[in-house]
Amino acid sequence: MSGEAPILSVQDISKDFVVNRRVLHAVRRVSLTVPAGRTVGLVGESGSGKSTVGRLAIGLLPATGGRSVFQGHDLSQMSARAMRPLRHAMQIIFQDPQASLSPRMTVGAAVYDAMAIHRLGTPKERWSRVEMLWERVGLPSSIGTAYPFELSGGQLQRVGIARSLAVNPALVVCDEPVSALDVSIQLQIIQLLKTLQDDLGLSYLFISHNLAVVEYLSDTVVVIYLGEVVETAPVEALFRRPSHPYTRLLIDSILRVPAPGAPLQPLTAPVGEMPSPFAPPVGCAFHSRCPLAVDRCSQEVPTLRAIDPEHWVKCHLAD
Ligand SMILES: Nc1ncnc2c1ncn2[C@@H]1O[C@H](COP(=O)(O)OP(=O)(O)OP(=O)(O)O)[C@@H](O)[C@H]1O
Ligand code: SF4
Ligand SMILES: [Mg+2]
Repeated sequence: MSGEAPILSVQDISKDFVVNRRVLHAVRRVSLTVPAGRTVGLVGESGSGKSTVGRLAIGLLPATGGRSVFQGHDLSQMSARAMRPLRHAMQIIFQDPQASLSPRMTVGAAVYDAMAIHRLGTPKERWSRVEMLWERVGLPSSIGTAYPFELSGGQLQRVGIARSLAVNPALVVCDEPVSALDVSIQLQIIQLLKTLQDDLGLSYLFISHNLAVVEYLSDTVVVIYLGEVVETAPVEALFRRPSHPYTRLLIDSILRVPAPGAPLQPLTAPVGEMPSPFAPPVGCAFHSRCPLAVDRCSQEVPTLRAIDPEHWVKCHLAD
């Protein structure tokens, strides 16, 4: 994948938030690249900084350091006004699509509205595109007159996807788009995203806390812990040879879809709690929870180094 042109290049990006006059280090020098037409999966447990990276990547948040370059434009150097013509090309879909839909607007009007905001097409063209989009996302055209509260979670997520597609994006940040859905519906939505990618050449930054979901869609996976990249590799390499202890714990915690009739396996989180992002640990950020930690780990910060040409790991012991 290294030879393909990137649509998105996040370079050494950081984000600090000031909370009650204290500095919270949400994202620390994260780099990742999304080649055109590909999917990069971003995975880590709650609070690891996934959504913040997603928002930084498409310029919805200003970075504290580093930059994000989309289709050759350095977003960190652009004002909101200068970014406006690029906005439609960078879309985001969320875990809760209802939150971004007005309860007083039919879902057809919401999809129409997305095009109107970006001044795309004539009113007649917009309505016919709404019809076309229902078919693309697997909804009946009668859905257009429904209000959000009348729809199921899966239908709402399809409306959310239609709304992003309405404005012809090149890149979609998918922020936990299936986490709130039943397992069977999750698979349908993931398959829809895959089909749309194949048909429309979309690029995805796909965020999830569940590696099983990320595995299905991603070409490359980036694992983050406490705002830092700890491992990144092509998806097969990551599962064949997970090399950071945190990645191994995440793989162990995957909720496997059970055989029919078999009991659901519990989802186990890695043991212990993530340290405070107000005061990240000295040395390796993971040392307080790492089953392999040695003295050196609490003193010396490991560097992110290549163990294979496209496989990078931030651990003193990785080889
Ligand atoms: N606007 C904000 N102001 C202050 N702190 C924030 C803000 N947004 C995020 N944070 C903090 O930054 C850290 C990373 O948050 P983020 O939402 O990016 O994590 P996440 O990996 O997406 O978590 P989740 O899986 O729960 O969605 C957390 O400690 C969070 O509390
Ligand atoms: S550097 Fe040490 S503490 Fe950190 S992941 Fe590796 S073994 Fe564990
Ligand atoms: Mg999040």
